[in-house]
Amino acid sequence: MSRSAHPAGPRHGDVLPEGHYTAPPADLNALDPRVWARTVERRADGVVAVAGLDVNELAATYGTPAYVLDEDDFRARCRAWREAFGANADVFYAGKAFLSRAVVRWLHEEGLNLDVCSGGELTTALAGGMPAERLALHGNNKSLEEIERAVAAGVGRIVLDSFQEIERVADVTRRLGVRQRVQVRVTVGVEAHTHEFIATAHEDQKFGLALADGTAAEAVRRVLARRDDGLDLVGIHSHIGSQIFDMAGFEVSARRVVGLLDAIRNEHGLELPEIDLGGGLGIAYTPEDDPSEPHEIAKTLGDIVARECDRAGLAPPRLSVEPGRAIVGPTAFTLYRVGTVKPLDGLRTYVSVDGGMSDNIRTALYDAEYSVALANRASQAPPTLIRVVGKHCESGDIVVRNAYLPADVAPGDLLAVPATGAYCRSMASNYNHTPRPPVVAVRGGTGRAIVRRETDEDLLRLDVG
Ligand code: LLP
Repeated sequence: MSRSAHPAGPRHGDVLPEGHYTAPPADLNALDPRVWARTVERRADGVVAVAGLDVNELAATYGTPAYVLDEDDFRARCRAWREAFGANADVFYAGKAFLSRAVVRWLHEEGLNLDVCSGGELTTALAGGMPAERLALHGNNKSLEEIERAVAAGVGRIVLDSFQEIERVADVTRRLGVRQRVQVRVTVGVEAHTHEFIATAHEDQKFGLALADGTAAEAVRRVLARRDDGLDLVGIHSHIGSQIFDMAGFEVSARRVVGLLDAIRNEHGLELPEIDLGGGLGIAYTPEDDPSEPHEIAKTLGDIVARECDRAGLAPPRLSVEPGRAIVGPTAFTLYRVGTVKPLDGLRTYVSVDGGMSDNIRTALYDAEYSVALANRASQAPPTLIRVVGKHCESGDIVVRNAYLPADVAPGDLLAVPATGAYCRSMASNYNHTPRPPVVAVRGGTGRAIVRRETDEDLLRLDVG
């Protein structure tokens, strides 16, 4: 799923056609800053630490597996996005990547807005103290109850995704006698170069209203027809996919969205004040990935929108973006304890850890690539090709498909898998009745569980039979 996983080339550590493996990294003890959170370091005693707290202490206090999140890194990334986009644009953090009340507070303090896509995310956002006007509600099939709650709470915008939803939201605003700012989500027809399951702007998928066949323009007509019932159309929204490195897709998307703004002006005499180009910016899962920095992304997107508006003779609308992964993804690693080590002759060594596909489904689901480090000690043993697997009852239960670890890796060691901040805890499951791990935020040498570990009682609490 990361760029190096694109079908075009061999993956890191794969058996190449000529029968060789890609080379192990020069120094297995080194922590490449491209994939590790900012305050992570290997101390002089060989133990990995984050914000001054070492993994042995973390494991002793919180157990394993655990997601360990670098709070200062999270906040710094929020600031970098906000500063890069400046006063004329808005950054909405995509809560689906990872959301908790503490995260909501950090977002609030760092001046970001928040995109929620379900009633549960809306509940968490409000419970965390985010002012409703800084929330956007997404989703391709919002329930009536979710719409009513969002409108009643006064969310800043609802992104409309179907003809039925236009009528549903308008019926709610009319009934409640309130006005609601809305955007129309369009499908711009871009084939984003990412895994099929997370590409969202080609035509044959469930999201948005297609530009190409006029559906989007018809949606705009229908929204405007319900103006008297409380719908305020403020903009057009496009999200082309996730884990994208190539800005070309955003360029096409911006051009087509501005084209629709132009058509709306010509048909309705109305210049919409906002466009949202969604999220989807890629991060480094392995050192082979090379993501852009927020200021480069902001400049590229800002320039494209300005140029396209200039060409169409439109005043540039207010731009917004919705990064999720690019903010939280690099800020956390998953800490596991090794249980068994099984060398398979001539193949590789299987290293089983105490979690697996229940805490990180991304490898099984998208063929995602991760790297891994021995965390509780440094080692001068030679590299050996390994696969980190979990404890679940299927062979697809893989966390890190191909990587190298020191050959003396042994039961009891701690492994850290970096770049697991996005879509790991938020997609975690209770498969095999496994309690989900905690999320531990570390700052200034102090750790604190912002989401606690589930217990067997938590599992039994739902079992009311
Ligand atoms: N905005 C909208 C409307 C979205 O649908 C998404 C992600 C985002 C923003 C944030 O995208 P990001 O910047 O995080 O890439 N579970 C998959 C990713 C699914 C993304 C869904 N929508 C994964 O683990 O890779």
